Amino acid sequence: MEEDNRKYIGILTSGGDASGMNAAIRAVTRSAIYNGFGVKGIYRGYEGLIAGEVKELTTQDVSGIICRGGTILKTARSQEFTTPEGRRKAYETLQREHISALVVIGGDGSLAGARQLADEYDVVCIGLPGTIDNDLYGTDSTIGYDTALNTIVECVDKIRDTATSHDRIFFVEVMGRDAGFLAQNSAIASGAEAAIIPEDRTDADQLEQFISRGFRKSKNSSIVIVSESPKDGGAMHYAERVRREYPQYEVRVSILGHLQRGGSPSAYDRILASRLGVGAIEALMDGQRNVMIGIHNDEVVYVPFAQAIKDDKPLDKSLIRVLNELSI
Ligand code: F6P
Repeated sequence: MEEDNRKYIGILTSGGDASGMNAAIRAVTRSAIYNGFGVKGIYRGYEGLIAGEVKELTTQDVSGIICRGGTILKTARSQEFTTPEGRRKAYETLQREHISALVVIGGDGSLAGARQLADEYDVVCIGLPGTIDNDLYGTDSTIGYDTALNTIVECVDKIRDTATSHDRIFFVEVMGRDAGFLAQNSAIASGAEAAIIPEDRTDADQLEQFISRGFRKSKNSSIVIVSESPKDGGAMHYAERVRREYPQYEVRVSILGHLQRGGSPSAYDRILASRLGVGAIEALMDGQRNVMIGIHNDEVVYVPFAQAIKDDKPLDKSLIRVLNELSI
């Protein structure tokens, strides 16, 4: 039998799934094989890395997945990987499987995990930004963000039909944890009257501003997009306040929830994921390690993990002005 001298690249998806992760898995796998590497898929993120759930991937294994949401490798948020013992087991799996480099597709928590593994062991890690939140520094967009944005806009268009028919204020809660990219840009794209986002907490009261600016003057119905925020209580909290402080208005709440994470990826996310996947293999061949691959100003860039995770990605404040001016 012929000896297998190929170097193996491991690939996993971690944290919240995002549409386009499959396109990224396909791109990493095919680009790696094209360039003479072997590829091993690790199932259920760091949980599977700890438990040794590993299977070699061929080009056929990633056929027909570019158009599918979710992740064929499955994903998890691993508690065990946050412990030194968990990371030691993960490292042992990499050694046992002869994996010389690991590609991690995920959000900030997942890339922080990759960074820690690389700090503690001699492991080459490459990160790909995969999260609907778009909150990783150094890349203009993250895999899954554009698809989620389009899903939200489609939903808000539908909500508007009923909002105008009943002359109601709707508070629509969208995902984004600590980042308002989804809320702010979906508000602009759907013609919503306001967005309540974590980045704009400097001014006293975003609700008060919205009521006095738009709704009271000329409009009978309004849509306010609210970034989910465990601290504020999200859309429910604002609806309660309006019921209390402005009882003359009829209010409803719509929490879009996990439907924002599903569905076939947009063309933009497929192209982004494909470019980033090829970029990951190029980076490895280029001797890069412990960087996230991003796209900035339409160019592939390498962002050190520390920067991608720690540096806050600023939301362009001019977007707030755009929304305010256009929602009069
Ligand atoms: O980080 C991605 C994300 O979709 C956030 O926007 C959201 O707060 C979170 O994941 C939800 O996580 P889970 O699916 O574990 O409830």
